[in-house]
Amino acid sequence: MSQEIENHSNLNPSTNEPFSSVMARRVSRRDIMRGGLSLAALGMLGGIGGLNMARAQESGAQKTPLTLAFESLRGARTDAVVVPEGYTAQVLVPWGTPLDQQGMAWNPEQEMTAEAQAHSVGMHHDGMHAFSLDEQNASRDFLLALNNEYIDQKALWAPRGGPTNADTGQRPADEVRTEINAHGVTIVRVRKHSDGTWSHVPGDAHNRRFTSATPMALAGPVAGSEYVSTPYSPDGTRTRGTNNNCANGYTPWGTYLTCEENWPEVFVNTGERHADDARLGLPAERGRYGWETAAGNASERDSEFARFDVTPRGDGPRDDYRNETRTFGYIVEIDPYDGQSQAVKRTAMGRFRHEGCWPGKLVAGEPVVFYSGHDSRNEYIYKFVSDAKWDPADANRPGEDYDRLAIGAKYMDRGTLYAARFDADGGGEWLPLTPEAKTPEGRTLASALGLDADDRAGVIVHTCSAADVMGATPMDRPEWGTVDPVSGEVYMTLTNNSDRTAENTEPTYTNGGDSIEAVPAGYATAPTDAANPRPRNEGGQVIRWRESAHSPTDFEWEIFVFGAAADDTVNLSGLTEANQFASPDGLWYDERGDGQGILWIQTDNGYAGVAEYTNNQVLAVVPSSVSRGNNDASVISADDQTQLKRFAIGPNDCEVTGIFATPDKTALFINIQHPGNWPADPAVAIQDATRTASGSVRPRAATVVIQKADGGQVGV
Ligand code: FEO
Ligand code: CA
Ligand code: CA
Repeated sequence: MSQEIENHSNLNPSTNEPFSSVMARRVSRRDIMRGGLSLAALGMLGGIGGLNMARAQESGAQKTPLTLAFESLRGARTDAVVVPEGYTAQVLVPWGTPLDQQGMAWNPEQEMTAEAQAHSVGMHHDGMHAFSLDEQNASRDFLLALNNEYIDQKALWAPRGGPTNADTGQRPADEVRTEINAHGVTIVRVRKHSDGTWSHVPGDAHNRRFTSATPMALAGPVAGSEYVSTPYSPDGTRTRGTNNNCANGYTPWGTYLTCEENWPEVFVNTGERHADDARLGLPAERGRYGWETAAGNASERDSEFARFDVTPRGDGPRDDYRNETRTFGYIVEIDPYDGQSQAVKRTAMGRFRHEGCWPGKLVAGEPVVFYSGHDSRNEYIYKFVSDAKWDPADANRPGEDYDRLAIGAKYMDRGTLYAARFDADGGGEWLPLTPEAKTPEGRTLASALGLDADDRAGVIVHTCSAADVMGATPMDRPEWGTVDPVSGEVYMTLTNNSDRTAENTEPTYTNGGDSIEAVPAGYATAPTDAANPRPRNEGGQVIRWRESAHSPTDFEWEIFVFGAAADDTVNLSGLTEANQFASPDGLWYDERGDGQGILWIQTDNGYAGVAEYTNNQVLAVVPSSVSRGNNDASVISADDQTQLKRFAIGPNDCEVTGIFATPDKTALFINIQHPGNWPADPAVAIQDATRTASGSVRPRAATVVIQKADGGQVGV
């Protein structure tokens, strides 16, 4: 999400044709093709069929088809996690779990303090990844790196009856510090016991927190530029904190990537704002939690609160925090193995509301690729391609002590950022965001943005405007991506665009509820079309693309599955009660060998058509079991309904997000974010996630470990 902190403004003023329209033209083409395939279409389908054939040959005739061996769950709306028969689900590291002796044992009646929170698991778990300490025990003892996306002030301040001055007036310094410390990232060692249960390892030297106040380094083109000069770091090489870390990524060299998503709203600017800040949306009256209002408190150190108010007041950037926001909006690299290492913001990968960051197929001697999406209405999909070619000697060596962040600098500080244009013929192009790139109008991108000819930092700071100018395709809110590491195919969720209009309109361009101007944006509000006839696309969809073998900047795409309620009149993937879903968000391709794998889909649904039937859920499908090139609107069609199954359901009010499995595939880890009345047993060390509380509990986001009671592989 998260729905509570999402900004639903349309902040994209460009006239670029949106994906909804491109998709409509693609789908109507396919309808035409039903009567007789066009030559171009035959070529396209041949390409896909050819890929399937190559896979079949690669894996040999004896390949055993991967089959999901569980009954699709019926919908559920309870205060418990639901898993298929024969499975268990255990709560692990809920919010507030102490990481060391400076944390405090959980007591639902006790107030959280800033100090304890800095030494405890943060709030609202989201993306996560496992880092093994040694290959032998990789499935039973590892470092869990976990995003803590945002906070539930009601739960955080339950013992004092809620937050103080949440909406008006000065926030108390202790509350602000505690809230700042509840955000960010948690690194915690976890272990499986002989009885199959899991727990964290208190006091382990790797355990640590990165919060919205932790000193971090800036690297890449923006680092050291005037754009990020602040009183804290006049030379623009450092900043404090990472915020609203949503989905995650990881690198082949063993580091964690945490991604700054809905960060603009923790700042406020009551005066003149940078154009790039306006493009990203920044409050004009009060930050999301009013952290800036604690400025001037006698206990304040180094403008720890004042920096959230970025209104220009002094003579220049060294006199006020006008540039603080330009130190946010990045992919942040963390070495989980080195408890003393500093996090690094890798600015070359673009500045926007990053949902996540996913490595592409890794090939020795080829560049390293990362995909990323900007989760806002009508925003873009991006790709970063490293200058350096992949050297397998740089692969992670668990247990060895060396400088992984130096390897990160090699692959992530120099490279090319691209934005995606999706074409109606099923093709697409990656548009370079470099100062010298030529815009469709034939100007250089730097000139079109009003920047100096060699201003790489400027292009990155203005990433969204650069993509506007280059003609990228506005998408219906890109959330998670994932890559099939064998084929290199990329999947990405487009969660919804609930403000889609019935026809083309010219909306008011708003900024955090603050109306700025009406822009002549022909496509600024996505219109309905043949493929999306609903004025509100609340179903969302999963898109899939594959890079061209012939051109490094071309790709082919298709819709993998459309979300919908089973009884919707528009149900383009033919979903049934057994698998209806909406607003896909989390996504993970779980490779299982033989070129096969399970695609896990997690939801963050706000669509009543599905929400009335079930809470948020985890679905599974084996993509290789679904036929391709069938001329349907999407790859999953009415014929494929038994292939897409509901595997798990979260408790009331939650979102299900974050996912990985142990290498032996016997444990699937997911996160339950912002539950309403869960988990049930705060006093029990090993909590059963499937239990319902008998009364009201102080809710806590938590990781859940799903395992088969017989110890077998999950899902199959
Ligand atoms: Fe934090 Fe886009 O979900
Ligand atoms: Ca979401
Ligand atoms: Ca998300």
